[in-house]
Amino acid sequence: VSLLFHLLSLSSFFLLLYIFLSLSLSPTLSLPQNDEVVYAPSVGKFGSMGIKPMGSGMSKLEALFSHPLYNMPTPPIHEDDWLLKVKPKGKARETSTQMWVSDSDIGDDSAHWNRSSDSHPPWLRFHLGISRWQLYPHLDPNMAPLAQQLSTHRIVSAVQKSGGTQLKLVMSFPNYGQAILKPMKQERDEETNFNLYYFSDFERHNAEIAAFHLDRVLGYRRIPPAVGRLVDVVTEIKDITTDHKLARTFFTSPVNNVCFYGQCSYYCSTEHAVCGRPQNLEASLAMMLPDPSLATRRSWRSPWKRSYSRSKLAVWEKDPDYCDTVKKTPPYNKGTRLVDLIDMIILDFLMGNMDRHHYETFEKFGNNTFLLHLDNGRAFGRHSTDEPSILTPLEQCCRIRRSTLLHLRLLSLPQYRLSDVMRDSLSHDPLFSVAPLLSELHLSALDRRLVTVLQTVSRCQERQRSRHGEGDDDVIYDDVTDYKTLVKHVTPAG
Ligand SMILES: *[C@@H]1O[C@H](CO)[C@@H](O)[C@H](O)[C@H]1NC(C)=O
Ligand SMILES: *[C@@H]1O[C@H](CO)[C@@H](O)[C@H](O)[C@H]1NC(C)=O
Repeated sequence: VSLLFHLLSLSSFFLLLYIFLSLSLSPTLSLPQNDEVVYAPSVGKFGSMGIKPMGSGMSKLEALFSHPLYNMPTPPIHEDDWLLKVKPKGKARETSTQMWVSDSDIGDDSAHWNRSSDSHPPWLRFHLGISRWQLYPHLDPNMAPLAQQLSTHRIVSAVQKSGGTQLKLVMSFPNYGQAILKPMKQERDEETNFNLYYFSDFERHNAEIAAFHLDRVLGYRRIPPAVGRLVDVVTEIKDITTDHKLARTFFTSPVNNVCFYGQCSYYCSTEHAVCGRPQNLEASLAMMLPDPSLATRRSWRSPWKRSYSRSKLAVWEKDPDYCDTVKKTPPYNKGTRLVDLIDMIILDFLMGNMDRHHYETFEKFGNNTFLLHLDNGRAFGRHSTDEPSILTPLEQCCRIRRSTLLHLRLLSLPQYRLSDVMRDSLSHDPLFSVAPLLSELHLSALDRRLVTVLQTVSRCQERQRSRHGEGDDDVIYDDVTDYKTLVKHVTPAG
């Protein structure tokens, strides 16, 4: 613990720069009517990146991730678009282990700080890679070492995380990295009880993991990496915890499994204990974001928040024109906030998450940044039914990023089918050897819901055409600046 404090004091030298950068990514490109042209079989090259044809031993996931849509040139990342700044030891005014410097030190010597240094532990490289636009880059070479740290490194501390309604633990590793543990509470395939209100649903460890994979497959990269792990509840929690309130809740069940329940406002009681078999417990470990003292986060109430009352309706449930109001309200009246929110609810609809009452952003980046998709434990509760109300913002606003729509269309094609790509992606998780993270029923629900999203967008476009004729497209927010180039590069020559 003292080492952690040591680290925190070091880390407090991280700089926070608050710079607002206005982004205007909506050029007026005239677009071909037929977006499908992008999906012509990959031929030739896209930029410097050769695209292997299908059937050359590439998995569907690899094929998807090497598709031009996932490898579009991104705007250069300006210094101030990084969440954190780091500089190695300076020559002058050196004190023992000084690694991070404060703002005033800059200028003494040119900043030769190195973001991708192999000497940084994976968790620090993850923190240093967070930018205004995403949590980690596409095809991040740090992802494998990070997953390995989460799933295999020794756990040196386990304490309860305060706040939140259900039991969560903060686990620490010898290299000072930290992760949030959510334990398995029910059988994976148990569907949420239909009489349970969504806000009293259990949080599922496999949902946290599957949400990370889905978010990455969609090309968002707005969920911190989450990995499965079999945790030994005795040696990796009970024996090492300094949390007395947690330690007091351990007991041995009648069939000799070691159980505990911790302290929280929901389900922290002997009746809802979390039990090892006999000591092994399935859990998700999600990478912690930089401490709020280094990178403050701002929480935003979702305009489509549910009423969280068993009897009252929320305003958006009563007013079909509700989005007109939202569109005029800051920060939804400017920039990409509205389409970012639509991105988020599409993710939520696909995984059946009804519990997105708030979302967060990094304060440093002002209103012009991506939305963090945190806390996905209540997703993937049901596969047999869909929850159309989650799509309400898309229905009411009829607005979507072009890049998102293109990704969704790609994932609806047989050669990149969403369920296949997700099965593939999830098979890389360490818990896959215990049991698949999502059952086939949940995987096929993803395909079914994807069709619903695409139909909703088509209905929007038809409605728009019948009202305004062809011409300006209000449905699509054009964030694909290189659309023409993209089309040119992936269309067969001639
Ligand atoms: C960063 O460090 C790596 C090795 O740790 C090195 O290969 C690379 O050149 C360095 N980059 C800069 C900008 O110093
Ligand atoms: C950011 O959004 C808030 C609304 O929550 C608004 O008051 C503020 O003016 C916005 N900032 C900018 C720079 O647009």
